[in-house]
Parts: sequence; C-alpha cells; structure tokens
Amino acid sequence: MTRLLAIETSCDDTCAAVVEDNRILSNVISSQASFHEAFGGIVPEIASRHHIELINGVVAAALGQAGVDLDDLDGIAVTRGPGLIGALLVGFTTAKSLAAAKRLPLVPVDHLQGHVAANFLEPDPLEPPFCCLIASGGHTLIAGVTGHDGYEVLGTTLDDAAGEAFDKAARLLDLGYPGGPAIQNAAEEGDPEAFDLPVSRPDSGRLDFSFSGLKTALAYLVRDLGPAESAVRRADLSASFQRAAVDQLIDRLGAAVAGGSWNAVALGGGVAANAELRKAAADLCDENGLELKLVPIELCTDNAAMIAAAAIASSRDPLPYPDYLPLDAFAEKVR
Ligand code: KG4
Ligand code: ZN
Repeated sequence: MTRLLAIETSCDDTCAAVVEDNRILSNVISSQASFHEAFGGIVPEIASRHHIELINGVVAAALGQAGVDLDDLDGIAVTRGPGLIGALLVGFTTAKSLAAAKRLPLVPVDHLQGHVAANFLEPDPLEPPFCCLIASGGHTLIAGVTGHDGYEVLGTTLDDAAGEAFDKAARLLDLGYPGGPAIQNAAEEGDPEAFDLPVSRPDSGRLDFSFSGLKTALAYLVRDLGPAESAVRRADLSASFQRAAVDQLIDRLGAAVAGGSWNAVALGGGVAANAELRKAAADLCDENGLELKLVPIELCTDNAAMIAAAAIASSRDPLPYPDYLPLDAFAEKVR
C-alpha cells in the first residue's frame, strides 16, 4: 500500500489531496477564479500570492478530510512543471519543506502526466493503451498512453491552448471569464452554421493544433459586424466559434484514433467539460467501437489527486531525503 499527500499549484487553483493506491481519501481544490475574473484571465503574480495565502490551509484540509497526519504518509508528490513558475514554486517549496521536516521521500510529477494519470484513479480505473486529449487554458495535447510512466505526444498546439481560445473569444463577445462555459451557454440559442469560421489543420507532420487563426477570424468578424450587430448575433457567433473549435479537436482526435490501436479515448482538462466536445467524442468512440472515458469534472480540471495518481503509478523510485532539496520547478518542461 502506498499513501501519498500530493500538492498542485501550477496555475490558479491551490490543490492538495491524499491518495492511497488509486483510491482518493481527500481532494481539496481552492479555486482563485473570482480573483482573476476582473482581468479576463489569470494574472500570474496574483496567482502566486494567493497560493502563498492558501496552501497551508488547503494541505491541512486535505490531511484532515483524509483523517491522516504527516506521520501516516509514505511520501509527498508535487507538480514540478510545466506551469506558471511563481505559482509552481509555492507548491514545490511547500512539498519539499514538509517532506524534509518529516524525512519523507518526494516524487516530482509532470503536470501533464498528472492529467493522464487522472484516468488511473478509482472508481473506474482505465488501463492503457488509450489516447487522451488534454485541453485546458494552458495546454492542448493528444497523448498516446501505452504505460503508466509516460506518454507519446501525438500532437500539441502550435500557438494558443483550446481553453485560451475560448477565453479570448468570450472576451471579444463580451461574455466574461472563464470563457468556455460562457460560450457554451450563449451557443445553446445559436446556429453553429451561421458563420463559416476556419478549422485549421497545421501541416506539421503530427496531429498538431492551431487556434490563433480561429481567434483572429472571429476578431475580424466582430469588427466587421460592429458592436450592435455583434451583440445581437452573439449566440450565432458563439455557436459558430464553438463548432470550429470542437471540429478541430475532434478532427485531430479522430486521426489519433485511426493511427493507433487503443482501447479507449479519455478527455481531460477544463475544456473536457464542453458538452459539444463530449457529444462529438462519444460519436467518434461509437463509430470506432472504443470506450469513452470521462473522469468527473473535478478530476478533469487541475487537482492534486491526479498528481498523486501519477506518482503512485510510476515505476520510478521516489527521491529520498535529502536528494530533492536542490531541485527546482520548471515553467516549460520537467527535466
Ligand atoms: O483545466 P482548467 O480548469 O485550468 C487550466 O487551464 O489549467 O481549464 C480551464 C479552461 C478555461 O480556459 C475555460 O474557459 C475552459 O477550460 N473551459 C471550457 C468549458 N469549461 C471550462 N471550455 C469550453 N467549454 C466549457 N464548458
Ligand atoms: Zn492542467
């Protein structure tokens, strides 16, 4: 049996969890969304400062809800990167300090491996091989997962992340933040064929994504329509944008499905909450006789249970005290 405390602070959510094997004992997420709302996006310095204020309370809550204390743990897992460096450092330093104080081993975890590993958790753990679309405000990636320790990048975004594109579109349409749910709601009353927005297919030799052309096309459309007409056509604009964004995600996911032998398709990241994406992914899986794995939304968005899951599933040994003390977090990629 392995019981870990995990800490995740790569973006704007302050998260801690206790996981035993693949069973979640607690999964605490303190969202900072309301602090960033007024800015229409995440302000890194504000995120770091709130992580500092919240992290001790969130860790205490995770331990308390699990009914354990630090002496009952086998180790501590923590997100090392990628993410906002100031935000990452709060969680990474907290994890190192707690582990060092109790002479516990530490497991540094790649954030994206965490999103993949969310699928390994109870109550319905998924076994590889599967392909996993991770689409959030910071990442858009198709991972080919054949084991518990890593994944092959089948495609990634060449510019904006899918969630970032939704957030920028919502700003153009005066729909507020976060943009994904706002666009989805507005789109319910709209016609997805009303405007012909582009679905880009980058010629990169991989299953890469590009959302900057879609964002620019929407910006020109809104400019040409003018503020009054854009406001009147907001539902049609939202539905057309959502259709183009989902079409691109499903087009690449379809190519990944066709190009490998997978048992299942998994969706992760905040954009996985999108109802049209879920519907289209379900159709894709039906057509190909594959299982569609949708973890609960609190395991799709950033959380620490997935970081513990990645650490527990990994065959790599945890780092003993004091070997982890000189380690740093990384904004771009875990080295
Ligand atoms: O994973 P997440 O909570 O945080 C990180 O970015 O790490 O993802 C947030 C992103 C935001 O860009 C938000 O607009 C998008 O996920 N999102 C959605 C939906 N719900 C959240 N995008 C499309 N449709 C949704 N229903
Ligand atoms: Zn994430």
